[in-house]
Amino acid sequence: MEVIIQPDPDAAAGLVARVVARELRGNPHLVLGLATGKTMERVYQRLVQKHREQKLDFSLCRTFNLDEYVGLPSSDRNSYRHYMDHHLFRHVNIDPRNTHLPNGMAEDLDRECELYEKAILRCGGIDLQLLGIGKAGHIGFNEPLSALRSRTRVKALTPITLAQNAALFGGEKKMPRRAITMGVGTILECRRCLLLATGEEKADIVARAIEGPISGMVSATALQLHARCTVVVDEAAAAKLTEVDYYRWIFDNEPEWREFRTLKRP
Ligand code: F6R
Repeated sequence: MEVIIQPDPDAAAGLVARVVARELRGNPHLVLGLATGKTMERVYQRLVQKHREQKLDFSLCRTFNLDEYVGLPSSDRNSYRHYMDHHLFRHVNIDPRNTHLPNGMAEDLDRECELYEKAILRCGGIDLQLLGIGKAGHIGFNEPLSALRSRTRVKALTPITLAQNAALFGGEKKMPRRAITMGVGTILECRRCLLLATGEEKADIVARAIEGPISGMVSATALQLHARCTVVVDEAAAAKLTEVDYYRWIFDNEPEWREFRTLKRP
């Protein structure tokens, strides 16, 4: 795992967007795993900007989102399909047929999960997976006790997740109770993982995910098993980490990050 600490949420999202852009320029056929949520909005803003100003080309890229609520049609403004259309797809030159999200309205949800796994495999697997982290440590909707080898499946959302996202629905009671999510095992098979976390409310869980023991109670700790995982945090989300000097040293010395070392530290 590599940990990159940036001064603020904008700089952190900017770095993530630059990594995505670099990968996409290097491989126009990139299979990109996408996440939703508040934290990712800034990343998508930057990618849209890069498309407009630097002609970042999405025409050959294929995408797979991590998750979708069960029972919400794509027309629902809280569905993740709607989120992706609104924040990214509609604003770039991606072919809608190349964008994939689980169908939370499928009659046979188990079958839908199987088909989603097969679709990922048919595309040759995910090259780069974007991830956020929930307050209980979920990646995707892999809530506490998710098996570290789990595959795409239906998960019940925990009270912490319901509380985290309830405002968008106008209250917890109106929120779906379940979601289809890629499994922890599915995520671990991606060639590269890039997790973004910002804000002081994520500081505790970020420290547990990076420096704590690997546990099914905190799904994000499974990323410690991934051969190529980069975690990008702002100073606020990094506040509870103990080895920050080491992380900064790596970032300052690793050639891969040379072109990203432009920002001054506070
Ligand atoms: C959403 C997802 C979730 C979010 C996480 C953080 O597709 O996979 O794991 O990334 O809940 O959400 P925010 O950014 O809203 O705090």
